[in-house]
Amino acid sequence: MRIRLGLRLTCLMLLTTAPVVAQDYGASGDVPYAPTPPEVIDAMMELGRVDSTDLVYDLGCGDGRIVIAAARDRGARGVGYDINPERIEEATANAKEAGVQDRVRFVEGNLFDADIGEASVVVLYLLTSVNLELRPKLWQDLKPGTRVVSHLFGMGDWEPDKEVNIRGRRVFVWTIPEDAAERAEAELSAAQ
Ligand SMILES: C[S@@+](CC[C@H](N)C(=O)[O-])C[C@H]1O[C@@H](n2cnc3c(N)ncnc32)[C@H](O)[C@@H]1O
Repeated sequence: MRIRLGLRLTCLMLLTTAPVVAQDYGASGDVPYAPTPPEVIDAMMELGRVDSTDLVYDLGCGDGRIVIAAARDRGARGVGYDINPERIEEATANAKEAGVQDRVRFVEGNLFDADIGEASVVVLYLLTSVNLELRPKLWQDLKPGTRVVSHLFGMGDWEPDKEVNIRGRRVFVWTIPEDAAERAEAELSAAQ
């Protein structure tokens, strides 16, 4: 019992404090697949203030459930990127089944190369290390005012506007600031 608890705590620590080191999760790219539960999706929609005027991007979309919920429940449009072709196939079939195939699309590709400039909300369920690697791209590519919502994982010293806890799962929201491009430039040149 004690050994199992210790193992769980170690896994949790590794997930939340993982250094910025690339891991190989096979077809799942930089992050293993795990779906977001429905009640957390509702909280993400609330925190992101998603409505029918929004274009919601999920970077690492899995079976497409978050952009499908944004279209079905909020009337938004959505785009999901995933590196795993099986996930894209599932997401496309799920969108059809939900009757929102005209408002969402799914792209097989690496989230670090995603064309996200038109998004008004970006949702993430990745890892802290991947969020940190992605942060300069979010600052560089997204318009000021765009909301970024993350399930479970933070963004280091970029403080969220708000954080909620849904049955032990943290959900965060940030707003892309006016000086985002300068922040990205400073971070990228410091890393060189
Ligand atoms: C934890 S799951 C989240 C799925 C979905 N967003 C959700 O919340 O239900 C992470 C997803 O990211 C995808 N992924 C991992 N690395 C990726 C990368 N570099 N580019 C695109 N997708 C990636 C995986 O295939 C997986 O489906």
